[in-house]
Order: sequence, then structure tokens, then C-alpha cells
Amino acid sequence: MTAFQEGNRHVVECIDGMRKPLLEIKNLKTYFYTDEGISKAVDGVDLVLNRGEILGIIGESGSGKSVTALSIIRLVASPPGKIISGEIWFEGDNLLEKSADEIRRIRGNEISIIFQEPMTSLNPVLTIGDQIMENIITHQKLNKPRARRQAIEMLKLVGIPSPQKRIDEYPHQLSGGMRQRAALLRTLMEERPVILMDEPFSALDALTRLKLQNLAARLVRGATVLLVTHDPWEALRIGHRIYIMKERPVRLSRVFLPPGTPPRTPDREEIAAMYAQLLAHLVEKRN
Ligand SMILES: Nc1ncnc2c1ncn2[C@@H]1O[C@H](COP(=O)(O)OP(=O)(O)O)[C@@H](O)[C@H]1O
Ligand SMILES: [Mg+2]
Repeated sequence: MTAFQEGNRHVVECIDGMRKPLLEIKNLKTYFYTDEGISKAVDGVDLVLNRGEILGIIGESGSGKSVTALSIIRLVASPPGKIISGEIWFEGDNLLEKSADEIRRIRGNEISIIFQEPMTSLNPVLTIGDQIMENIITHQKLNKPRARRQAIEMLKLVGIPSPQKRIDEYPHQLSGGMRQRAALLRTLMEERPVILMDEPFSALDALTRLKLQNLAARLVRGATVLLVTHDPWEALRIGHRIYIMKERPVRLSRVFLPPGTPPRTPDREEIAAMYAQLLAHLVEKRN
């Protein structure tokens, strides 16, 4: 298998065909209708998310990454946004044809999202401990004291200082970076088969980001992940495949297949070479 698929649809489709798609987006168009006119945020995206993979999506700011992720679970602000066409296939159903109740059920059981802004993923009136413990109790069938001990361990693992104290605090009492870590934990503990992550590590310092990327790559094992990020290193560290969103309105332009399994260390020569290729592709002029 070559490390770099230069827009070669045939090869990419063959590789995709070897795995089983869990979620497939076909020709998605999501527009915003504003006073200044129509903004074609997403205009004809095709994307395949294979079962059990972490698919990295990178691209410049404003290229439509978040809107693509939000469209999957129909959380695009409407108005002014509207999904005007396309299909999103998941478990044999087109999510764009689901009723509001059905899509809520899917959001509650099958597809979770970590938002770019962590406050959106956390409930402001519950302590972070309650929010993390709720999922531990549901999925691991632990009683409250044991779930609490585990939640404290998890908070420690993601580098939150004084976890015994922080566990009883509300989201607004935490710093932005701590909130992001708590939101990530909460979502990972939900154990949904599909996790959409929108810049989940962006508010973190470099060292914490590195630790959390490793942790997330370990904790999501088995789940299928769409990882939206503006950071090519992040996609290279933990993505099985990488799509680049470049044009505006967005279309997916190329698929990259980094060698080896995530989490990868950037010190390998071929990873560094692919980083250079990703950057070159990002800055390359449209033809
Ligand atoms: N609520 C909104 N109202 C109007 N336009 C929006 C809104 N949200 C997104 N857009 C448009 O969609 C484009 C893509 O946004 P987004 O998906 O957030 O980009 P990113 O790739 O940085 O995540 C933006 O350039 C913007 O023009
Ligand atoms: Mg975004």
C-alpha cells in the first residue's frame, strides 16, 4: 500500500472497499442564508467513515469542517443554516430523512459529539463529577462511590490538578483547558459507537495536547471517530486516514494514508515526510 494517495480515486476506493463503511456522506450541501447573501459552507462533500477508524479531517479555518460534522447529527443552526441536499447513510438509514425524534435518539445512543467550544458539551448546572460519573455508572454498572473513585482517576489521567476538589466543581469554575479535558472525558465515557470530535484539543498547551491525543487514541479503540482539526500533526498522530478540506466552498480534495498505527510518534522519517506533503497540499494553489 503506498503511503500517499494522490487523489487517486480508484486506489482509494479499493482500499475503502476492504473495510466496511459505517457512515457515508454523499454530495452534502449545507448553506447559510444571511443578510449578506448565501454562504455555501459545504458544497458537495463526499466522505466515507470506516468502522473502527479514526478519520482525520484537516483544512484551513472556515473551510467547512465544523459544518460538515454538525450536519451529520443535524445540529446546524437553522436559520440561517440549511442542509439543502445530500445523503448521510448510517446503519442502512439516511440520517437526513430521519424525524427530529429519531435523530435525537441517535444523538442519545449512537453518535456523540465533542464540540469545538467545550461549554457546549457540558451541562452548566451539573458538576463535572456528576457528568462523568453518570456515564461510568451507566456503562460500567458501578455504584456511586466506585464511579466517583474512577472519575477522580480519569481526571488525574488527563492532568486536571487536585481532582478530588475539582470533581465537585461546575464547568464555569474550571479554566478553558480543564473544561476541554472534562468535556473530552465525558464524551469518551458515553461509549457511543461513533464520536465526532471538533477540534477537541485546541484549547490545550502543547504537552497536555500530546498526552490527551495519546489517551484519546487509546480510549476510543473500537469506536469510529471523525476527528476535525486544523492541526496536520494531530491528524498524523492519531488518524488512520486523513482527508484534506481545502477549497471554499469545501470539497474533499485528497486522502492521505499515514503508515503504521496511531498514536504515532512524529520522529519517524516517513511521518515527517507526510507532514511536509500535507502542508504542501494545503498551501498549493487551486488549479
Ligand atoms: N452560524 C453561521 N452563520 C453564517 N455562516 C456560517 C455559520 N456557521 C458557519 N458559517 C459559514 O460556514 C463556513 C464554514 O464554517 P466552519 O464549518 O465553522 O469552518 P471550519 O472549517 O473552520 O470549522 C464559514 O466560512 C462561514 O461562512
Ligand atoms: Mg470549526
